[in-house]
Amino acid sequence: MTALKFRNNDEMPILGLGTFRSEPNEVYDAVLSAIKIGYRHIDCAAAYGNEKEVGNAIGEAIKQRLVTREDLWVTSKLWNASHGEENVIPALNTTLKDLQLDYLDLYLIHWPVALRKGTEMPEKACDFIPLSEVPLTNTWKGMEATLEQGRVKHIGVSNFNENHLKEIMTTAVHRPEMNQVEMHPFLQQKELKAICAHYDMHLTAYAPLGSLVDDNSSLRLLENDTIKTIAEARHMSPAQVALAYTIQRGIAVIPKSTNEARLLQNLETLNHMLTEEDMALLKGLDKGHRFIDGKFWEVENGPYTAEKIWNT
Ligand SMILES: NC(=O)c1ccc[n+]([C@@H]2O[C@H](COP(=O)([O-])OP(=O)(O)OC[C@H]3O[C@@H](n4cnc5c(N)ncnc54)[C@H](OP(=O)(O)O)[C@@H]3O)[C@@H](O)[C@H]2O)c1
Repeated sequence: MTALKFRNNDEMPILGLGTFRSEPNEVYDAVLSAIKIGYRHIDCAAAYGNEKEVGNAIGEAIKQRLVTREDLWVTSKLWNASHGEENVIPALNTTLKDLQLDYLDLYLIHWPVALRKGTEMPEKACDFIPLSEVPLTNTWKGMEATLEQGRVKHIGVSNFNENHLKEIMTTAVHRPEMNQVEMHPFLQQKELKAICAHYDMHLTAYAPLGSLVDDNSSLRLLENDTIKTIAEARHMSPAQVALAYTIQRGIAVIPKSTNEARLLQNLETLNHMLTEEDMALLKGLDKGHRFIDGKFWEVENGPYTAEKIWNT
């Protein structure tokens, strides 16, 4: 499988490039190199603080005639400080300007968490807006407007649980087509996968390599013995095994790299196939472990807890 098909038959390449924590001075080279070697899907977000550099790289790739705009699938995300119907179009305008694009292929609500205007990362309770004040259904109306104006081809969400999805569905004219969530062999999200299938939504796996930020070495995904053994047997790298497992479950992956060799290695996952036996062994690794635990949304007396964000 190389692409996920949307309801209107548009196809999103199943493997894309992540750009979170790609420093502005590195991301230009990473995106341009990625496009040169064949990446056609770039995952961005206003919150990553590097959309201008990503835009410069996309612009350069188009100028060099490596690709046309239509060859690329570009995703971006509405930051938490722009929840609320009236704030979506202005936020999209900034993202499109930074990316030097006149449309996005996919626009997602980044988190089911709302912040006061201008807040990058919250420090105190008053930096947040409770969802009772700015309901997700209200922000979703703004997302639908982006679609109706033709500035976005598809709309979706990120980090949404079953309840968040259900709430949006109560008023949605255009249903979300994507939920981007953390997924890898240690966090397989089986229930959420079934719910998204029920709503005819695709999933994209973020942190598909385990994000590599967890200090607990016993939980380093790419050092897992099962993954390493399969990698050796199939002449793959551990990263390729982790990516192939998720892809073979019908889920898109967006591994981040700013390293040329690893960019190529990740893309070459598409040339490999795990066996049913490999898939069964990898299925057994699920431990519901989140590398991105959402605890950064918890402050004293604040309206959000990680528990409420993840669980229904
Ligand atoms: N929606 C959300 O809330 C959300 C949250 C987190 C992430 N995301 C998206 O998902 C993307 C991926 O997630 P992520 O960046 O957190 O984590 P990730 O892609 O799982 O892991 C990235 C880390 O793995 C390293 N790496 C890449 N390829 C490798 C390979 N073949 N072998 C060994 N190490 C490798 C990278 O280092 P090098 O760069 O040095 O190769 C980097 O340190 C993000 O970039 C972002 O676009 C979305």
